[in-house]
Amino acid sequence: MTSKVVEGSICSAKNLTFKTCFERYTRNRYKNFAYSSLETIGGVDLRQKTILDAGTGEGWQTLLLASIGLPREIVAIDSAHGEGSSKDCLAVLSSNMKRMGIRNVGIARMDFPNNAFRDSSFNVVLALQSIHHMYVTRERISVSSEAAEEYKRIFREFYRVLALGGWLIILEIRPTNLSEFLPLYRSEINWPFHQEPEELIELARAVGFANVSLRWYVPFPLRHFRRLLENKIGNWLTTSRYHVYAQKSSRS
Ligand SMILES: C[S@@+](CC[C@H](N)C(=O)[O-])C[C@H]1O[C@@H](n2cnc3c(N)ncnc32)[C@H](O)[C@@H]1O
Repeated sequence: MTSKVVEGSICSAKNLTFKTCFERYTRNRYKNFAYSSLETIGGVDLRQKTILDAGTGEGWQTLLLASIGLPREIVAIDSAHGEGSSKDCLAVLSSNMKRMGIRNVGIARMDFPNNAFRDSSFNVVLALQSIHHMYVTRERISVSSEAAEEYKRIFREFYRVLALGGWLIILEIRPTNLSEFLPLYRSEINWPFHQEPEELIELARAVGFANVSLRWYVPFPLRHFRRLLENKIGNWLTTSRYHVYAQKSSRS
């Protein structure tokens, strides 16, 4: 487990190129992004691994990982149909790669559920805020068997493209949040289309994943209140984001 290695790399001054690029083109703070990125990686070892970023968008996560030099190769795919990010997101990723001189990233326009990857192609699959955009019915798994089937198909693909011992890392948002009730807060999130973590955990186990775990996300400004907020209620009061980790284990 390399959380120390990753933390050291992300926080070191070596990555000014990524920092400059990130802050210039997203107008967000690098510090916040580096924190959330580290939270996402959790304890998963990325050294010399082959990573699939499924639904990469403009690929900032991919760029950060590539710039810290841990993975051997990253494949960043996106359907680029304009929902969840712009239609030119892959072109943005490509030009930022050139700006940073990054070479170990492959980019492809691809619909993940209908991907053409061979079995066991990746050591890590990232699905960061992308699963709820990949399916068609727009229903909760708990009320729609069609939605449940579509999600299962996506999870079967995650499982198939992962090598033995590989990790699936999911970042998702729950179907509800305090901000829905606050008129001052404007959000583009379609909350009801999202799924609860328990539902994704069940799906992961159903398709064969082992070592499935859940981690509530505590946002950067509130990180010192982690012990208070790292639970379902704290999560609902803040961002409603959560991570699910699942391993394709040799025993599963
Ligand atoms: C909310 S964005 C997240 C982007 C990035 N992962 C992040 O966390 O910033 C969701 C992305 O998933 C992509 N996406 C949606 N359906 C997809 C599909 N079927 N296959 C691949 N990517 C898809 C969208 O185009 C969009 O770029």
